[in-house]
Amino acid sequence: MRNLDVLIIGAGAAGLMCAIEAAKRGRSVLVIDHARKAAGKIRISGGGRCNFTNLHATPANYLSQNPRFCVSALKRYTQHDFLAMVDRHRIPWHEKTLGQLFCDDSAQDIISMLLRELEAAGGKLQLETSVASIEKTGGRFHLATSSGGISAQSLVIATGGPSIPKMGATGFGYEVARKFDLKIVPPRAGLVPLTFSDANKALCQRLAGVSVDALVTFGKTQFREGLLFTHRGLSGPSILQISSYWQEGKPLTIDLNPTVDAFEVLRHARTQSPRQDLKTALAQVLPSRVAEEFSKEFNFSGRLADQSDKKLRHAADHVNRWQVLPAGTEGYRTAEVALGGVDTDELSSKTMEAKSVPGLFFIGEVVDVTGHLGGFNFQWAWSSGWAAGQAI
Ligand code: FDA
Repeated sequence: MRNLDVLIIGAGAAGLMCAIEAAKRGRSVLVIDHARKAAGKIRISGGGRCNFTNLHATPANYLSQNPRFCVSALKRYTQHDFLAMVDRHRIPWHEKTLGQLFCDDSAQDIISMLLRELEAAGGKLQLETSVASIEKTGGRFHLATSSGGISAQSLVIATGGPSIPKMGATGFGYEVARKFDLKIVPPRAGLVPLTFSDANKALCQRLAGVSVDALVTFGKTQFREGLLFTHRGLSGPSILQISSYWQEGKPLTIDLNPTVDAFEVLRHARTQSPRQDLKTALAQVLPSRVAEEFSKEFNFSGRLADQSDKKLRHAADHVNRWQVLPAGTEGYRTAEVALGGVDTDELSSKTMEAKSVPGLFFIGEVVDVTGHLGGFNFQWAWSSGWAAGQAI
């Protein structure tokens, strides 16, 4: 039986940050992970360049049943703190758009930085280790693992969420929470492409690969970013963002050209070029392939001179107020995150410790705090991992 101050399960973004901070405070720390390599999701993140934080991160960028829960950790360990570590390690980075910071070279730079920090602080990492059982007796946690028994004063669950199962992602953290009678906000896929089963499926298929700048609205929530037509439906940043808010059975409204009032453009075109086809006029406000496929799908035909205001309005509404009813999402197979997770009511927002189970901590994606697309999820992993690292 190995005796430790701190055992962390999950060598991802949150687990490594937590381990570094606890080891710096002189605690004996071991991080275990069932994967062959640490931080698999960092490696594939941001298209291999890791969007490691966002300059504009605030609590408003996070979804949770308790929107105030993330405030303390985000305030005590900010994006500027993480950036200072990146700069200390001389990792080249750039701002891509909207405050999103990416490595110039490779996401591996961030992983190497974390592993160097962990080693310097004296923390240990053990890969290819799975957990068979967890018990708490005599104020300590006792684990049976594939490499023997471990006893620890503090146990940190940093196993992330179940998105991208083929990478070894699991719902293990939820099982641990259930075992200790902690409530879970039902998890579901977030930051995920949307799919269709109605006529829009074939329409999207025909337009697969085309992207536009769009304003996507669900209820009071809006995102203006790229939208991509795919073989199964819609994707791109604006769609991934809204997917975290979208509720099944309800429609979304999409403005495929937020820079113009399509009705006014079409009305003007009717005065200037009455013999022009409606389809041709629509290409003034939509990419020509989209104008063509929409015209086929929604029967926009005939000369402008023959179109009533009502007909022009109908066509323009498909540009500025296109209503779609997604059938679902692509699910955990392609989702960037899992929404929901360990109910924040169960945890201290200052330390991430379970209120009813002293010594048990939950950090990162396993907690019911989910960021928008754009580096916010890693910032939550760093901030929550740091917060627990000060307390364990
Ligand atoms: P994370 O998933 O990083 O780590 C969990 C660790 O636990 C893994 O190493 C896993 O192997 C281990 N584990 C799981 N179950 C276990 C078990 N039963 N036993 C032992 N170990 C176990 N975010 C962002 O801010 N910017 C970005 O650019 C991207 N890009 C991106 C791309 C893609 C394709 C995905 C899927 C996700 C992103 N994200 C992102 C989201 C981001 O990756 C995610 O929010 C963080 O990795 C969460 O950090 P955690 O440390 O909580 O979990």
